[in-house]
Amino acid sequence: MQKIAMLGSGFIARFYADSIQGYRSQDKIISVYSRKDESAKKFSKEYNVNHFTTDMEEAIAHPGVDVVCVALPNNLHEEAVMLCCKYKKAVMVTKPLGRNAAEAKRMLQATEEAGIFNGYLEDLVYTPKFIKAEQSVRNGSLGRILWAKSRETHPGPHSDWFWDIEQAGGGCILDLGCHCVEIARSYIGKDIKPIEVMCWADTQVKPIDAEDHAIGLVKYQNGAIGQFEVSWTFRGGLDLRDEVMGTEGTIWINNFLRTGFEMFTTGKDTDYVAEKAESNTGWLFPVGDELNELGYNHMFMDMFNSLEQNKQPKETFYDGYVVNAVLDAAYRSAKTKLWEPVPLEVWRGKEDASKYNHLTPYDDEHYFIKEEVTHYGTKKLILKNKASGKIVEKIIE
Ligand SMILES: NC(=O)c1ccc[n+]([C@@H]2O[C@H](COP(=O)([O-])OP(=O)(O)OC[C@H]3O[C@@H](n4cnc5c(N)ncnc54)[C@H](O)[C@@H]3O)[C@@H](O)[C@H]2O)c1
Repeated sequence: MQKIAMLGSGFIARFYADSIQGYRSQDKIISVYSRKDESAKKFSKEYNVNHFTTDMEEAIAHPGVDVVCVALPNNLHEEAVMLCCKYKKAVMVTKPLGRNAAEAKRMLQATEEAGIFNGYLEDLVYTPKFIKAEQSVRNGSLGRILWAKSRETHPGPHSDWFWDIEQAGGGCILDLGCHCVEIARSYIGKDIKPIEVMCWADTQVKPIDAEDHAIGLVKYQNGAIGQFEVSWTFRGGLDLRDEVMGTEGTIWINNFLRTGFEMFTTGKDTDYVAEKAESNTGWLFPVGDELNELGYNHMFMDMFNSLEQNKQPKETFYDGYVVNAVLDAAYRSAKTKLWEPVPLEVWRGKEDASKYNHLTPYDDEHYFIKEEVTHYGTKKLILKNKASGKIVEKIIE
């Protein structure tokens, strides 16, 4: 059984609490910190938490607490992590780990020096669909991965601090791009180095200093490309979609809208439909079990099991740091309009993943390009002569 201090009592803290106390049913939040006394009190009542406080250090230092779950605005993650190091408490931090790579690196190094467990709460690489898809990719069902795209767009976040660039550290690139980058990176291979980023970003709708819409490309050392599409100005709910393309196959995943669950209502007695749903009348796209479909259950199971087995979880602060470094490069690229390098001062993957060879031999004289059976029953082969470079067609009746 793990005894947990929850830092924060807002949106994500409640999803986390539902998952932690509901799924393994052996872990318990025993202390909650929130900025306002009434929020801390309300959370403690609703989740049956004995101790509540408006002093972050008090919650972390609480003698019964083994694990601290950081569900606070982005600018408070580092302070919370440093206090966990001071009190030698295992720590799990929501996404993004830092507002930038420098913050993330400090948190990574401090926890490693303190010898405490660190987990990065990136739920979207724990969704049931992702787990199954990633297994297929690792088994080789898609061949070599060429392109992995992830899209997260919605009409904008639910609390004031997200919209303040100082507290949040950025706009939708940081807030949503962190999910997309880790999803694409996981499909391509977390041991493959992201080397360069090209990004377009703009503030198209909202009166804010940060970007509210962006698209980016992340080049990996083995030639694969990751792509993220993020927006705080998308209308129609929460659009969470991934696409993976390999030499032998393709995966398309729709996590939220159009999951196969569609409902029509005139609006009678309909309140909450799903996260960020913009309407509760007409045709709707509810989500069956949000805790599970957003990966929270599998994520905490991995976190707590890893902690108990003294091993690293699938997602650690190191992953959070790599993601922050990629996003820092995206911000630079959006300004310079150039491919920007991803400087990784800490890199634990392959140093020299070579680029793929795209020349597939067909016979001694040719490379293979394509085979197709036509509607008139002919099998056509398109080949390239190795010596002359000439492209030829071979017809097999
Ligand atoms: N899918 C996900 O993993 C996911 C989803 C949403 C949010 N998040 C992350 O969780 C963290 C918290 O986001 P949230 O949506 O729960 O926010 P929220 O505004 O709903 O809750 C923030 C909590 O932090 C507390 N807090 C303490 N000091 C504060 C301060 N100075 N200003 C504002 N709040 C303060 C508040 O009391 C509140 O309980 C962020 O890092 C965010 O990126 C992750």
